Amino acid sequence: MEKSTAIVIFGVTGDLTSRKLIPALQHLYRKQRLPTPFYILGFARRDWNDLILREHLLQSLEGIDEIKGGDQNRLLEHCLYIRSDFQNWDGYRLLKQELQRIQIENVLYYFAAPPDAYLDILQGIKSAELNRDFSGWVRVVIEKPYGSDLASAMVLDEKVHEVFEEDQIFRIDHYLGKETVQNILVFRFANGIFEPLWNRRYVDHVQILMAETGGVGNRAGYYEKAGVIRDIFQNHLLQLLTLTAMEAPVAFTADAVRDEKIKVLQALRPLKNEEALVNTFRGQYVSGVIDGKRVIGYKDEKGVALDSTTETFLAMRLFIDNWRWAGVPFYIRSGKRLPRSVTEIAIQYKQVPLSLFGWRNMAGDAPNQLILCIQPDEGITLTFGAKAPGPINQIAPVNMSFDYVSTFGTEPPEAYERLLLDVMMGDATLFTRADEVQAAWKFTTDILEAWEKAKVTNFPVYEAGTWGPSGVDDFIQRDGRRWRIL
Ligand code: BG6
Repeated sequence: MEKSTAIVIFGVTGDLTSRKLIPALQHLYRKQRLPTPFYILGFARRDWNDLILREHLLQSLEGIDEIKGGDQNRLLEHCLYIRSDFQNWDGYRLLKQELQRIQIENVLYYFAAPPDAYLDILQGIKSAELNRDFSGWVRVVIEKPYGSDLASAMVLDEKVHEVFEEDQIFRIDHYLGKETVQNILVFRFANGIFEPLWNRRYVDHVQILMAETGGVGNRAGYYEKAGVIRDIFQNHLLQLLTLTAMEAPVAFTADAVRDEKIKVLQALRPLKNEEALVNTFRGQYVSGVIDGKRVIGYKDEKGVALDSTTETFLAMRLFIDNWRWAGVPFYIRSGKRLPRSVTEIAIQYKQVPLSLFGWRNMAGDAPNQLILCIQPDEGITLTFGAKAPGPINQIAPVNMSFDYVSTFGTEPPEAYERLLLDVMMGDATLFTRADEVQAAWKFTTDILEAWEKAKVTNFPVYEAGTWGPSGVDDFIQRDGRRWRIL
């Protein structure tokens, strides 16, 4: 860690840098986990200079309590700005001169720019030979969306591989940086008692939910082309699915873990044509009330087309055709402007084979549910039936719970902190490999194509602050199941 290291942020003026990257770097700096000396080089189009960049980044650190006291200036002291268009190759030469002038040994390129600039940035890096001539390592972090379908992801990959080797490439999915997401593997593979029950013999179905109260904010331009399927499903939700469903890896190493994850993606039963239409359910929010406040509908957001059919809600039923999961449905639900912000994985166990106490006394569904709450109430809950007090055998569902904050006495650290550190350590376990991204896009692209072919009239809508369009309950009830109520 005693090597002169720089992070070069392409698109440094954007939201991601101030909201996530700089606070994460500051935390790492405070904990003395950054190499020294450490430089931040911002590369973007706006007419800024070093001072404006520092001022701007400093603001992003205000309000973070634990870093009051002035030392945030020290991280930003080594902060430089290169003003350039992404297509202007001179800008990249200037960047190289700067890196050489400050005698950088290790360099990390971070693609935080709009994705349509990625190919230009790669070309610029190549033209100025920024991928070589450093005495230490050169690595690149690429933000999602990594392509917009299988074909574009493959083109991007080809271009990235013209400039970098696979072991230099870190495709980031910030969900993998969350402690509670990593805990899925620890929970499953560091404990002996759950794994035997983690299969089709005991599990009735699995529900994965990622709900947000927020709308699209000022990202409508991007979101119109993305929708839930590209924004959340292709990456975050499929990552949660792979961790939940994968087999134990032979070792806890980057490739061994990713080898198992990709098998899950490969075993997903393809959803093509009619199958895609029957197994997905989309919706779009209209005005409604969230946390007591009226919010506007999706079509009223700035930058959204009046006839937009971009989905802000998606429910899906998936099957993983392998020995462990054959016949077990995985129900996925995600949306903007839902009543609560919560991400969780719920494993619903089967009913007992014979009712000794009378089904009507059994508290409705089978009482055994294992809920892995990713956020905000980080923890794990197992529900089971207990005898309610009284002379009759009435069964009540009760909980056994692990709560992250009260157990460890601290909030889980920010995902980006862990991920940036891993990149600097060269550990790719929590990053997605090329074949994994392609497998995720392959599955997703079939659905996109089916939607494209069968244009919907009367696109279902839901009021902001509700759990999706009215038909979404029928979507699961036709299988004799129901959505978990939160
Ligand atoms: C991002 C999506 O990847 O994840 C956003 O682009 C979404 O639309 C965000 O709001 C959610 O992340 P988190 O960590 O707040 O759950």
